Amino acid sequence: MTKRTFAGSRENSVHHFKTKEVHADTEYDWEECGLGKTERRIFMTPGGQLKDEHEGILLMLKILDKVSGKMKKQGKVEFMHLEQIVDFFKIFADKCHHGKEEDLLFPEMEKAGIPRDRGPIGVMLAEHVQGRAYVRAMGEAVEALKKGDPKAQGKFIENASNYITLLTQHIDKENNILFPMGDRVLNRDLQKQLVEKFEIVEREKIGVGTHEKFHKLLHQLKEIYLGS
Ligand SMILES: [Fe+2]
Ligand SMILES: [Fe+2]
Repeated sequence: MTKRTFAGSRENSVHHFKTKEVHADTEYDWEECGLGKTERRIFMTPGGQLKDEHEGILLMLKILDKVSGKMKKQGKVEFMHLEQIVDFFKIFADKCHHGKEEDLLFPEMEKAGIPRDRGPIGVMLAEHVQGRAYVRAMGEAVEALKKGDPKAQGKFIENASNYITLLTQHIDKENNILFPMGDRVLNRDLQKQLVEKFEIVEREKIGVGTHEKFHKLLHQLKEIYLGS
């Protein structure tokens, strides 16, 4: 099984193992675990895998920013692209990525002593709820735009801007504070189990092939709106 990555082009990994070049800061060196030089591979921690997904989400936020700017200047953007972007955030970012955090990683971190209420996990959960509301409002605005509602454009632009600010800061906090904390407090067996469960979430929550579909969409929209 080939693992998809958003972060790099060297996709020569097997299952959840990756080569050392990618996210080496968040991975374990299996040579240290006795696999020996011929089996030198790197294990991607749950935090490392979620950080990799953040790369894809950040790219779509950049595309959203461009789309929103174009809408402001020219008053029109292709409806299909707006729907695809909203779908990406609803399904990939929220259902799948936030699902892995909320159902799997955060509960294990809580069990390991990281506080939820009035602690970092509680803050992340509250931001997921807020982000969900912005994405819902963007989706409603797209529907209204299709019906010719003149106020819908302003609603889309405002919610897109709020979402970009919120999620960019949220990802920064997870990448630099919460995930390193998780990688520190969870032992390797637990981390391996989490990574296995992430695969199940992908299969059961979004279905086989959906991750690849969104990966392709990201590249298509990147070419159109970011010019490369
Ligand atoms: Fe999150
Ligand atoms: Fe995240």
